[in-house]
Amino acid sequence: MTNRKCLAIVLAAGEGTRMKSSLPKVLHPVAGLPMVAHVLKTVADAGGGDVALVVGNGGEAVEKAVAPFLPKPEIFRQEQRKGTAHAVLAARDAMARGYDDIVVLYGDAPLIEADAVLSLRKELAGGADVAVLGFRTSEPTGYGRLIEEGGRLIAIREEKDCAEAERAITFCNSGLIALSGKIALDLLSAVGNDNAKGEFYLTDVVAIAHERGLAAVSVEASEENALGVNTRAELAEVEALWQRGRRREAMLAGVTLIAPETVFFSHDTEVGADTVVEPNVWFGPGVSVGENVRIHAFCHLEQAQIANGCEVGPFARLRPGADLRGKAKVGNFCEVKKAVVDEGAKVNHLTYIGDAFIGAGANIGAGTITCNYDGFGKYETRIGAGAFIGSNSALVAPVSIGKEAYVASGSVITEDVPDDALAFGRARQATKPGRGKELRQRFADAKKAADAKKS
Ligand code: UD1
Ligand code: CA
Repeated sequence: MTNRKCLAIVLAAGEGTRMKSSLPKVLHPVAGLPMVAHVLKTVADAGGGDVALVVGNGGEAVEKAVAPFLPKPEIFRQEQRKGTAHAVLAARDAMARGYDDIVVLYGDAPLIEADAVLSLRKELAGGADVAVLGFRTSEPTGYGRLIEEGGRLIAIREEKDCAEAERAITFCNSGLIALSGKIALDLLSAVGNDNAKGEFYLTDVVAIAHERGLAAVSVEASEENALGVNTRAELAEVEALWQRGRRREAMLAGVTLIAPETVFFSHDTEVGADTVVEPNVWFGPGVSVGENVRIHAFCHLEQAQIANGCEVGPFARLRPGADLRGKAKVGNFCEVKKAVVDEGAKVNHLTYIGDAFIGAGANIGAGTITCNYDGFGKYETRIGAGAFIGSNSALVAPVSIGKEAYVASGSVITEDVPDDALAFGRARQATKPGRGKELRQRFADAKKAADAKKS
């Protein structure tokens, strides 16, 4: 197969009106990644070849979103949405260069796997002219039905064009279709739009191939990999399937998920072996977690690095740029943004650390806040190794606290503190013996006098 030239055409035009969204349908994310990017990743996993992307309205947004997955984008525009065959023909110039295999993928079916692409190409290599990935489902509504006769695929009928009996067929079109490059343009040019929607259907190439005595075959995939997304309800179903697969993969790779159905991963989450993730944890994009980490319940993590042996949460929020190094601890109700928490440092309770470097082994007391923002600019706080920040301190950046230094609790620190120093940034306490009692008496007398006046 490697010596067969392949062109993958990914359809990403059409606004997807049933999503009721200003975002083009194929940019709706699954696991934090646009659906169409999942499809492009699948194409790459299947061994690449050339890729043509067909975009329509909102095309610029689609182009931008897929740039990281399509280093050499060949982008075609379908100016008007006239159906899937019409969309494929937008890439006519690419097809005309001559390919052995042409594989068409829909940008709204993100769970298709590379193996499926390869199995269709294998059919072409074995002499088929058209190969379709089908799946069986108990809920065929909305899908094209694969019409077979004597074990041969003779047509795909769209839901709206189905006769009553055909509607009962549960073998459906996934949307993944491979065409022999030699005849693809011929078949596509023969597609008309005489159907319920008045669209040029890619699926009609099967009946046309059959009429011409060419060989069309189907390959069966699991329903889970074939699901397409036309509504937000279907988007949620696809997300759920993706998450289920990813959780299983994580557990098989040595990660403990105590309540897997409550943990949500992103497309790029990395988690090391022997890490335990407690219930109700959200991994946004860009999170990597080392080995032997404990993520306690109810954490929200995005674009964060968590090194081996760290402990996070419960109820911690790690925002972009949080960098927890070996055995660091970030505890309950703490937020960390764009900050290093170096080896063994502890940020344990009710704290905000933003734009900061916290040295190895430093201890940040409860309620400490780095005041990093003055309404205009952001400033850095540096805390040296082994420093101790007393509870409820405000560190007004830019500011630095030296190694092994102490900051007394309740301080507002506006000036740098040298290594080994002790800094107080608060008024000195004054204690007056007996004055509490006096005060109490004075207040009681005043209240008594006021009450007597009223009655
Ligand atoms: C399509 C198939 C149907 C299959 C289902 C699988 C056709 C005619 N029907 O139906 O057999 O069961 O997918 O999910 O192909 N697109 C364009 N330009 C267009 C029209 C569509 O680029 O003019 C793109 C869309 O962005 C989408 C994909 O093609 O990614 C499929 O289009 P959609 O309208 O969702 O087709 P379905 O009705 O779901
Ligand atoms: Ca669809």
